[in-house]
Amino acid sequence: MIVIKSPQQMQAYSLAQRNLKKRIGLVPTMGALHAGHAKLIQVARKENDLVIVSIFVNPTQFGPKEDFRKYPRTFQKDLNICKSSGADVVFAPSVQSMYPDGFCTYITVGKMGDVLCGLSRPGHFRGVATVVAKLLNSTIPARAYFGQKDAQQAVIIKRFVEDLNFPVSVRVVPIVRHADGLAMSSRNAYLNPAQRNDAVILSQSLMVARTLIRCGERNAVSIKNAIRRLIARVRRARIDYVEIVNAATLVPLQKISGKTLIVLAVYIGSTRLIDNIVIEGK
Ligand code: PAJ
Repeated sequence: MIVIKSPQQMQAYSLAQRNLKKRIGLVPTMGALHAGHAKLIQVARKENDLVIVSIFVNPTQFGPKEDFRKYPRTFQKDLNICKSSGADVVFAPSVQSMYPDGFCTYITVGKMGDVLCGLSRPGHFRGVATVVAKLLNSTIPARAYFGQKDAQQAVIIKRFVEDLNFPVSVRVVPIVRHADGLAMSSRNAYLNPAQRNDAVILSQSLMVARTLIRCGERNAVSIKNAIRRLIARVRRARIDYVEIVNAATLVPLQKISGKTLIVLAVYIGSTRLIDNIVIEGK
């Protein structure tokens, strides 16, 4: 496995590989890798000749009061996970090389970027879309892999790739969870043991929602209220949002029908966690 640090070198390498008819799979990450990221790398390994993992904590997707500075950075451990999961190349550019002086071009995301996580994180998806575009142009993959964990991000990336004709196929990999249901996340590292226990309420409340739907409930308000009531029982939990939306457009639904996403963001102490489930409505 090799490590490449500059976008120019990365692009030259990828162009050469493409000329050799290699199919490249890209897994974009911000590091602090866990089994969720490893799963993305393993899926990419199966489907491509060359697997590139990017590790870049992207400053433009963090708000001024967010955790850019304290975001966990575990580069050596990350390299081991990349290697054991089957990566060929780690692309780890510096902030200066990605955003040199004078950088001023961004991708503007439409309405989908202003709802759900976009409401409490203004500009977040503009930063995500911009950096993903730069990572795609640096690595020129045939396929790029994203997690269902960040459902809104996956929808927005699929949309801009289509809208801007990026020649890449976007693959979305299911959420990897701990044994108790908590979705794996780099931010789980911020939780103390009591908060870690409380955090289970995110996935538990989604499971209850799924059961309600299996039992015939279709009213979105009733389902959201059931989720809210469960989360309200946990003293250290504070809801940012609970929403039920169309899985392709993120438009809120009154009644469950068609492919639906139940998405939520909850603060456990000062740590904001997200989770979601997909309902394959009829
Ligand atoms: P990061 O949070 O490091 O996540 C990298 C990828 O791993 C994302 O596509 C995310 O959805 C996926 N992922 C995280 N936890 C997962 C889990 N438990 N199961 C399955 N997949 C999981 O998302 C980002 O980085 C950034 O926004 C990025 C796309 C790299 C742009 O900077």
